[in-house]
Amino acid sequence: MGSCLPERVLSNRDLEQLLDTSDEWIATRTGIRTRRVFAKGQESPAYELGGKAALSALSNAKCLPEDIDGIICATFTPDYFFPSTACKIQQYIGNTRACAFDVSAACAGFVYGLSIAHSMILTGQCKRMLVVGAEIISKTLDWKDRSTCILFGDGAGAVVVEAHTGGDRGILSTFMRSNGAHGDILQLPAWGEPRYMKMNGNEVYKHAVRLMGEAIEQGVSQAGLRLSDIDLVIPHQANIRIINAVAKHLGIPRAKVVTNLDKYGNTSSASIPLALEDAWRDGLVKDGTVAVFTSLGGGLAWGSVVARF
Ligand code: ACO
Repeated sequence: MGSCLPERVLSNRDLEQLLDTSDEWIATRTGIRTRRVFAKGQESPAYELGGKAALSALSNAKCLPEDIDGIICATFTPDYFFPSTACKIQQYIGNTRACAFDVSAACAGFVYGLSIAHSMILTGQCKRMLVVGAEIISKTLDWKDRSTCILFGDGAGAVVVEAHTGGDRGILSTFMRSNGAHGDILQLPAWGEPRYMKMNGNEVYKHAVRLMGEAIEQGVSQAGLRLSDIDLVIPHQANIRIINAVAKHLGIPRAKVVTNLDKYGNTSSASIPLALEDAWRDGLVKDGTVAVFTSLGGGLAWGSVVARF
């Protein structure tokens, strides 16, 4: 796994200077204290952030770019409608032999991408793949709308997934669902001006708590495990209250739940790989650790992946 974040830190105190908000309101309602965002007009392309995360993941996995035969990039902030961000990442890392494409599932994009990579490896289409989540969300926000702009950060995370034979490690189950009927509660229009993210926070909150919880239960059951077998829950880092409510509802001890949204805010498809890397650096991901990733995002789209390291 690997990651890349902008250097610029935007704190809640900084936001107090821009908006009618407070550190106390943001921290209590969301758990977020700082986020990394590019300054307006100085954004790096999403493919560059994703490409740097991919190179870091390759280095940690002791792989070369040419070892990769598939690249999936989850993003809702692509640099182009086409070429895909994944193709641009392919060029950035210097790979010429992979298939490469983007996945559009908003905050559920990383879980979707990992599930697709798993299927492609199982069917023999690929042997070693990169799954990247890369987002420059700051460009999509109305910085005058205090109900949305305080939530998000820019960032990218990547993992290398490869085929193996024997043993009981690897991806144990994948679970993906969507419901287009709720598409209007979280939207970023492709056309028209002004073009900002729109969100009904209360509705998103309710769906996220219920459906991320269900996704964990379904994924764990499909893996032939019980909730008590799970060592780590690595949820999408949307809001600490959503995460705590899911853990409480399922009776999962808080110590098993990885969070880093206090530092990075909601980075959409990058949030799970960023949290995974933090957990790994903190020594929480060891040989045999069973982790469940879960996420919900615009679509609505949601899902889970259960993996044994
Ligand atoms: N600072 C101060 N006050 C604020 C702010 C702010 N940044 N934002 C909203 N308020 C005010 C509102 O105007 C409202 O004021 P009023 O009572 O005078 O009308 C009051 O705070 C309460 O507003 P609510 O929207 O009811 O606040 P709530 O407790 O629901 O928290 C929040 C809002 C944090 C957005 C919450 O609904 C939430 O986290 N929802 C989930 C949304 C989410 O995570 N989206 C991310 C994308 S989707 C995903 O990743 C899963």
